[in-house]
Amino acid sequence: MNKNNYKKISENLKKNGYIFIPIGNINREFVHKVKIIINEYILRKKINLLKLTEKKFSQHIYKLQKQINAKINIKDFFNNNKRIFETILNSKNISSQYYFYLRCFKPNKDSKNYKPISLHRETFQGPEFYKKIYNLWIPISNCSKGNALKFIENSHNFKPKRDFDTNVRLTKIERKSFAHKTGLLYQDRKIRFSKKIKYNILFKKDNFIIFSGQLIHGNAKNYTNKIRFSIDLRFMKKKDMKFNPIQGSSGKKYFKLLKI
Ligand SMILES: [Fe+2]
Repeated sequence: MNKNNYKKISENLKKNGYIFIPIGNINREFVHKVKIIINEYILRKKINLLKLTEKKFSQHIYKLQKQINAKINIKDFFNNNKRIFETILNSKNISSQYYFYLRCFKPNKDSKNYKPISLHRETFQGPEFYKKIYNLWIPISNCSKGNALKFIENSHNFKPKRDFDTNVRLTKIERKSFAHKTGLLYQDRKIRFSKKIKYNILFKKDNFIIFSGQLIHGNAKNYTNKIRFSIDLRFMKKKDMKFNPIQGSSGKKYFKLLKI
């Protein structure tokens, strides 16, 4: 990629609130490593994720998430894509979430009591400076348009009160449970829009995604018959991080500082 292409990526991110980036050989190795860790774990534990109780399922995903983070280095991914991150943030200093969340998303097209991660912005669960945060989403296996994230077009430009309102509500997730520690929320906010909105699916085959934390997004259903695995984390320019919050589910600092 030449200099202009990097600039274009950065401009598109500002304009659309998201960008797709081809995984390419260097990232493929990273993705493959995560895939192997998952497959080996499932084989070793002799488990069928589809047949576990919700509690056992969350417990295994939590353990697997810990193993992935112990065996891979977050900095590697940033370094592999150094020019992209540097251009987007206009800096080499990054505040990155300490670990990747592992999202393991079962088929649920027929489930009546399935509660997706509802539409949100990252500021709904964090301090004001989270409006400068970005999400990094990396597909691992079985990812497709039939089980991807959904988002609302142009919503990174929406203004609270003017374009939407929110109400806080509790979810079925228990505070500090394994499910909570894998990124599921014990409380969320229900959004009501005051204008016509347009949904879209946030997915492009063999691409990873960077999107603004302001882009209103959530999980759609998994309409496929396979479990979808992906990993994600939040990051921002170090200078934009006003303080390092303590994370509710783990009691630890949320960000680590990286220099690429
Ligand atoms: Fe999110």
